Amino acid sequence: MTGSAITGWGKCLPPTVLTNHDLEMLVDTSDDWITSRTGIKERRISHVGTAELATVAGFRALAAAGLEPPDVDLVSVATCTPDMLLPSAASLVQDRLGAVNAGAVDQNAACSGFLYSLITASGMVQAGIVESALVIGAERLTYFIDFTDRGTAVLFGDGAGAVVVQATDEPGGLKGSRMGSDGSLAKLLWAPGSGTATDRVALESNHKHLAVEMNGPEVFKKAVTAMGDAAAAVVEQAGWALDDVDILIPHQANIRIIDATARRLHLDPAKVFINIASYGNTSAATIPIALTEALEMGRVEPGARIVFAAFGAGLSWAAAAYEFGSRTEPLGVSDAELPPTDGDVMALLAENFAYFGGGPDR
Ligand code: COA
Repeated sequence: MTGSAITGWGKCLPPTVLTNHDLEMLVDTSDDWITSRTGIKERRISHVGTAELATVAGFRALAAAGLEPPDVDLVSVATCTPDMLLPSAASLVQDRLGAVNAGAVDQNAACSGFLYSLITASGMVQAGIVESALVIGAERLTYFIDFTDRGTAVLFGDGAGAVVVQATDEPGGLKGSRMGSDGSLAKLLWAPGSGTATDRVALESNHKHLAVEMNGPEVFKKAVTAMGDAAAAVVEQAGWALDDVDILIPHQANIRIIDATARRLHLDPAKVFINIASYGNTSAATIPIALTEALEMGRVEPGARIVFAAFGAGLSWAAAAYEFGSRTEPLGVSDAELPPTDGDVMALLAENFAYFGGGPDR
């Protein structure tokens, strides 16, 4: 069987920032509470749709891999917040990139989605089904966040990250993987009213809004065990000792969940990559954004043994043990950028406030 390697990486963070202090104007919360209970200081709010975030991250990952869009066989987008129900976000991205020789598909495993897509694409490369895949995690979750609900308002942000997976003769690549789900816990984190099980007429006459709803403490408990168990299992499957792990790149939903996962692996905190303070939980975009930042900061050495771990709505979870290749520098840099915006966060959220209520003048 061929090997697979991550040969390109890139991220796209929309520039507009919503700080904890901004949130103090929107809900009954405080910078102290958010920082101490979650580790988040600020998050980004997108002025464009998910496909546009994904496209910019995709261009950047392709440039880092030294590939042109027509070189790619598959565009896989992990998202639970596509621009529309159909076509897929991946088809929109494939067109915008000019990836004219690629198939395109979305995968939705919520915050675990990128790892599901990475594992699937790596398997397809290793099986010889495709030679190269662009795997993107992209979300505009704040579109579905009710900023009058302090249980969810403080946690989520927007963004996209991408990697290129290519066939290689080098050793390394995906050494262990786990994917799990417990759909009996669906109601702990869901967006009822967003699909075909909805009575649209009742929804409208009850003035009910389509929002992400969450039982935070219950999700927290399940996340700690599921993510920790999956991470430990892939280390064992890879045949690594816990000491062999060079870096843990976990889903960034809550600093206390990240700490618990690291403790489960008996990891030195210096081996854990954390950027939750800057972006909050960007769902499926979190891990490719974090991997890209870790590479940019020189935190991923050639041949690094990486553990990725995530959990999310479903409930779903996933982990991967990944031995990185010998190249940790990008081959090229893309000039792709988002369209400009003036950075006025409350103006950007005006449509959200008009829909859900609330806002700085509440
Ligand atoms: N600001 C201020 N106070 C808040 C608050 C907020 N944003 N959210 C909740 N509180 C209050 C509660 O009302 C409660 O007050 P009380 O003790 O007077 O009743 C208190 O803080 C504790 O609430 P609780 O919900 O038990 O807090 P917690 O420590 O579990 O933290 C979360 C809440 C949401 C941060 C935490 O449960 C969490 O991160 N869960 C996982 C969520 C997640 O990761 N989701 C995404 C999955 S990908």
